[in-house]
Amino acid sequence: MIIVLFGKPGAGKGTQAPLLASELNVPTLATGDVLRAAVRAGTVLGVKAKTCMERGELVPDSVILGIIGEELSEPQYARGAILDGVVRTVPQAEGLQRMLAVSGRKVDAVLAFDIDNEEIVRRLSGRTVCERCQTPYTGREVGSVCERCGGGLVRRKDDEPDAVRTRLRVYDEQTAPVLDWYLQHGEPVTVIDAVGAVEDVTQRALRALGR
Ligand code: AP5
Repeated sequence: MIIVLFGKPGAGKGTQAPLLASELNVPTLATGDVLRAAVRAGTVLGVKAKTCMERGELVPDSVILGIIGEELSEPQYARGAILDGVVRTVPQAEGLQRMLAVSGRKVDAVLAFDIDNEEIVRRLSGRTVCERCQTPYTGREVGSVCERCGGGLVRRKDDEPDAVRTRLRVYDEQTAPVLDWYLQHGEPVTVIDAVGAVEDVTQRALRALGR
């Protein structure tokens, strides 16, 4: 089962991915998390990605397709994956389709989280994340402790107002067209109202998947 979580920055993809993964018993793959780990470790990938990420721009498709190809060939993804923020351009959608076809797989569902820009700015301006396990929080101060793993909470550089504006522009220009691509290619796209209690959004997503 391959499920694509799609939506603007701050729509709640990273919040919903582990909840859906635990309900559906398939692992998550989040390119943002892979890239942030590479930046922290100072690897070649991290050095390449750092400036783009801090500005709120996309990392080049070739880099992203390399990550997806490498990760999805790992045995843990044999049963499927919840893809969080993985597909952000039409070339990425095409590349993922080609990669999955090699192992006789395809995207089974695209869940498009719907939210307006005002709510996004509200969420991202109040977000902190665990520096260890990446769990996002709203309204918790930098330096608080993560409920899940005890790590410290930090603020993401790309949650600064200038970077958020860039991320929203990049979404409109490069990512929104991916939904049309999926619709044109007959993939099952469901729009989910992403506003409301986290558990209500999870239930909407599960219902869209027929659970
Ligand atoms: P990435 O980490 O994927 O960032 P993003 O898509 O911009 O998504 P966010 O993590 O900001 O938002 P989210 O939708 O996951 O929301 P969250 O659950 O955290 O990517 C970062 C960067 O890496 C990109 O800008 C790019 O440079 C690069 N990159 C990554 N993938 C790439 C790709 N495929 N191609 C090219 N470049 C790539 O929630 C946000 C906040 O809202 C949190 O505080 C949360 O607690 C809160 N919240 C969540 N749900 C609710 C709710 N229902 N009610 C109230 N608050 C809520």
